[in-house]
Amino acid sequence: MSTADSPKVLLINGPNLNMIGTREPHIYGSTTLIQLEDQLTQKAKQLEIALTCFQSNIEGEIITKIQQAKSNNIDVIIINPGAYTHTSIGIRDAFLSVQIPFIEIHISNVYARENFRHHSYLSDIASGILVGHGLFGYELALYRAQNIISSR
Ligand code: DQA
Repeated sequence: MSTADSPKVLLINGPNLNMIGTREPHIYGSTTLIQLEDQLTQKAKQLEIALTCFQSNIEGEIITKIQQAKSNNIDVIIINPGAYTHTSIGIRDAFLSVQIPFIEIHISNVYARENFRHHSYLSDIASGILVGHGLFGYELALYRAQNIISSR
């Protein structure tokens, strides 16, 4: 069970990830974002982590959320930046300014897809990257977040 003293993890899903479940199911599966967030919230409770879930299709909202994570005492951020992975210097700069460790995750194996998905503006400054493990990657990211927190 998580309590007020539990470490805090913020999960950010970027653009179009609100559409999983119906979006290109051969790539992203049939589980909806609400179902995924419910499952992860249960898993986080078992790990004694307080998990907050956030999704936005708007780059500036994601940047603001990362900035606010500092004053909200977030210990680790897990982010699937969606297409902003490949375009957003703004999200990169937000992570550089808050200096909160973060894990980058992609549901699909971006390296087995179009060339424009092979470059990430975040990977070199991430604590770690999880790519191509489907939705299970989010659970793996939670375990890694716990590991980052406990090894501080
Ligand atoms: C994605 C991969 C991105 O290239 C794409 O734009 C997404 C989802 C993934 O989870 O596999 O929206 O981040």
